[in-house]
Amino acid sequence: MSAAANLVLVGHGRMAAAFERAFHRENLPFRAITARASQWRVPHANTPRTVILAVSDRYIASTCERLVDARVLAKRDVVLHCAGMLDTRPLASASLAGAFAGALHPLVAVASPGDPPPLRGLAATVQGHPRACSAARRLGKLLGLDVIRVPAMDRARYHAAAALCATGGVALAQAAQSLLEQTIPSLSPREAAQMTASLLASVAHNVRAVGTHNALASPLMRGDIPAVAAHLQAMQVHPPAAALYRAALAQVLSVLACDDNFTEAARAQAVLLLST
Ligand SMILES: NC(=O)c1ccc[n+]([C@@H]2O[C@H](COP(=O)([O-])OP(=O)(O)OC[C@H]3O[C@@H](n4cnc5c(N)ncnc54)[C@H](OP(=O)(O)O)[C@@H]3O)[C@@H](O)[C@H]2O)c1
Repeated sequence: MSAAANLVLVGHGRMAAAFERAFHRENLPFRAITARASQWRVPHANTPRTVILAVSDRYIASTCERLVDARVLAKRDVVLHCAGMLDTRPLASASLAGAFAGALHPLVAVASPGDPPPLRGLAATVQGHPRACSAARRLGKLLGLDVIRVPAMDRARYHAAAALCATGGVALAQAAQSLLEQTIPSLSPREAAQMTASLLASVAHNVRAVGTHNALASPLMRGDIPAVAAHLQAMQVHPPAAALYRAALAQVLSVLACDDNFTEAARAQAVLLLST
């Protein structure tokens, strides 16, 4: 089966927009259907379909059941939902009909359907039936999306990790923007957004290139505790920024504790600073 064979995208929300953009970009033919339509007209297929259910988590099970009833989903098709929190249980109706079910979770934050991030170069996870996982990985290859196969797991904790990155990244940008605007009153919101996005993009590059443990470029690395103290002092104009900075430092300190280049004296000073 070709990875793009009979590709069907269900939903017209944010995640669907990201897939739609990626399919167009890679010239992959697909059929988009409206989840809330009262009925669907999908021509009979001679080869198995790959159906991506990009609908709100709470409607995955009912939409899947409707797709099975309408024979859009049948034996040997692959069905993939996109929810990070859920395993394949909401797709039980498709499995009962002989289809192969998987949870394909793009590790991507899509804020606006009008301008979704390109999927090329990003990552996703897949869990479920081996045939569904293979189909997802083949599709990922065509889209330039790195699809990592994961086992059954605590999906709440897995999704918490994703939410921490996605929500935390925005929270850091918001707090930094507030400090920037108070420091440079002439700055436009667009310029401030460009500045924070530039930093986040460079951090993403470093994390991908050298891993989280080596991605730190902070005065803390040099044992420059006075600089960190000056930061905390300057952040008093926006207390949430200081709180975020303290939390971030506590996390990186826990990793630096294992770093031979970070002296015990610097660590002790940093701990003292954070406790005041
Ligand atoms: N947005 C993200 O950053 C993100 C990231 C990772 C994973 N996801 C996952 O991607 C999936 C889609 O999320 P989303 O952010 O794209 O949500 P969304 O923007 O709110 O869109 C959800 C879609 O669900 C469908 N829907 C709404 N009410 C429905 C109903 N009563 N019955 C059936 N379908 C209904 C609609 O499709 P129609 O318009 O076609 O009717 C709607 O466009 C979710 O599983 C989510 O967990 C999202």
